[in-house]
Amino acid sequence: MKEKTKKLKIAVLISGGGTNLQAMIDRIEAGKLDAEISLVVSNNPDAYGLVRAQKHGIPTAVVDYRNYGKRFLAEVVQSTLPKEFDEVVNRQRIYSGLADGEVRDRLARLALAEQEVLALLKPLNPDLICLAGFMRLISPYFIGHYNTEDRYGIMNIHPALLPAFPGTDGYGATFSYGCRFGGVTVHFIDEGEDTGPIIAQAIYPIWPEDTLEVVRRRGLELEYAIYSQCIQWMAQGDLKLVRGEDGRPQVRILDPEYPAFLEQLTQQAFAR
Ligand code: GAR
Repeated sequence: MKEKTKKLKIAVLISGGGTNLQAMIDRIEAGKLDAEISLVVSNNPDAYGLVRAQKHGIPTAVVDYRNYGKRFLAEVVQSTLPKEFDEVVNRQRIYSGLADGEVRDRLARLALAEQEVLALLKPLNPDLICLAGFMRLISPYFIGHYNTEDRYGIMNIHPALLPAFPGTDGYGATFSYGCRFGGVTVHFIDEGEDTGPIIAQAIYPIWPEDTLEVVRRRGLELEYAIYSQCIQWMAQGDLKLVRGEDGRPQVRILDPEYPAFLEQLTQQAFAR
């Protein structure tokens, strides 16, 4: 452990198999990741990631977003919406091309589900929220609880080389576009969909004989390594927020080992 390292208390949000979660657990148990997982929350009651967490004695919870579906909204009274809801509507960049009323409806349902997640997270006071295959949008209401002016508090792993192919099918979109290289991105969450400041990226080749499944496996291996490394950098105080020339927030990695880490990862991905 480096001298300045602070063991991070993290909460992990998942929706499915949880192999990224497993990679974090394995690295924590191997002493390679200075973090402790306080809670795993899934929006999907059948997510296998919940079982993975339980096998390692990590507390789990389910917030089923389907409980806040269209039928639910008809019964919603305004008083159950968060106080800051109008501001949430103004700040959001996740829904576009929809009528104002529809945006409000969708955000209202999302924020109500998120209120449930926040109630679980609040008493734990986590240092970082990690999205690991969490397949729900995050509204400015939720973000407002973890991002401040000079600190981002929610990290995500995305299965494509952002800003290419945001959304839910990074590998499928990369593969069917005919890309010769694919990539994975760890980034902080902001008010848009997969638009927050990039922390680290890694690439892999797509060879002519590859299938989508081969490509996905190659990418996932990179995800496991790079996601844990980014969390570790945060624990070490090695992620610095700076402003680019255009004022856009950017993340600088201070760890002098960063180039060597990336080189090794890239070599592994290109090995045949
Ligand atoms: C991973 O490939 C992750 O990058 C992706 O879902 C998969 C989850 O796998 N996330 C997204 O697409 C988010 N938009 P896992 O449950 O086995 O970790």
